[in-house]
Amino acid sequence: MSYDFTTIVDRTGTGSEKWNAMKKLCPDVPAGTVPFSVADMEFLPPPQLVKGLQDYLGKAVYGYTCATDSYYDAIIRWMERRHAFTVQKEWIVQTAGVVPALNQMVEAFTEPEDSVLILTPVYHPFYSAIVGNGRGLVESPLVINGDTYDIDFADLEQKASRPEVKLMIFCSPHNPIGRVWSAEETERVCRICMENKVFLIADEIHSDLIMPGVLHTSAGVFKEYLSNCAICTAPSKTFNLAGFQASNIIIPNEEYRRKMPGSGGYFSLNFLSYKACEIVYNQCEDWLEELLEVIDGNRKAVEEFMKEQLPSVKVYRMQGTYLQWLDFGCLGLDTKELEAFMTRKAHLFLDEGYLFGEAGAGYERWNLACPRETLQEGLNRLAAAVRAEGF
Ligand SMILES: Cc1ncc(COP(=O)(O)O)c(C=O)c1O
Repeated sequence: MSYDFTTIVDRTGTGSEKWNAMKKLCPDVPAGTVPFSVADMEFLPPPQLVKGLQDYLGKAVYGYTCATDSYYDAIIRWMERRHAFTVQKEWIVQTAGVVPALNQMVEAFTEPEDSVLILTPVYHPFYSAIVGNGRGLVESPLVINGDTYDIDFADLEQKASRPEVKLMIFCSPHNPIGRVWSAEETERVCRICMENKVFLIADEIHSDLIMPGVLHTSAGVFKEYLSNCAICTAPSKTFNLAGFQASNIIIPNEEYRRKMPGSGGYFSLNFLSYKACEIVYNQCEDWLEELLEVIDGNRKAVEEFMKEQLPSVKVYRMQGTYLQWLDFGCLGLDTKELEAFMTRKAHLFLDEGYLFGEAGAGYERWNLACPRETLQEGLNRLAAAVRAEGF
């Protein structure tokens, strides 16, 4: 490895949302405990990014800033190179995060009497973007198939055909189950939406985080459906830039694009986040390749550990993201007991499965984007707590 994926950084007191949440939940958490919840990474940033930003800060004027041609070129080249998605500059709308964009799009693309379709269990801000904006929520539950989940296409088609359903938010790859949808599945979702006049928002924020041997297909490669689709992209998960709040929403359809507040230049990025996005897409691809090896190594470590030490915990196949979905139903605890066991007994700060919908009760989402040593300590704490409690 030429990059540092082993240094353990103590983020206490740095304003980290994840670390603060751990402290709030458990003020007497033992020193050195690293949380595995919120989806950012416990890794130092790519050195090219640090150097690039330092150079930029040393010579720039910090005035009102907008996107430059080199910023657009960096995104366009990245999408073409990594995703075979040919993007036109005019299609790109900058927003201060994908979650704000989801909220803006739900509000802008639907009317109060409309409903929005999602595949569940799913990333919890999808629910709040819909319900919080006063729209109806229609769920098409994913179905468990061995160590993964599938889309119930008959159910999806039936729900997409309901007259009140005007929008679908598709998580691709899917958080929290770690599923990477195949080209056929993605094409089918695009087609069902088009045929039923349901506008599709494909949240592809995790699409750069694909495990070796797995292929992600962007909804953007299917040209025939492009006018019915918005594709959410960001460098934030890929390069751990969440604090920069930079995302690029690709909306080929001008009519829809014009409805976005970002298209008027307001709600766009700030002076530093433009540059950070440009630097990572242009200069940090080899850092990403190493990161993927580290994540895949962590994924295998969890699988092996569970097989040997806790075989009744069901490990779902993580094809993409760095979020491992685990079924702890074997412990026989209700959701509150499971949460208390994890935090109080195992000192493990994971994301509770029920946050992602009812079907997530009894599950945990474990963020694997951390040094192996940190992960191993967490796994050991889990096994020791399970033994101590006599499960
Ligand atoms: C599917 C998905 N969309 C969006 C986000 C957050 O996006 P942002 O930080 O750009 O608002 C996350 C973060 O975990 C996510 O998993």
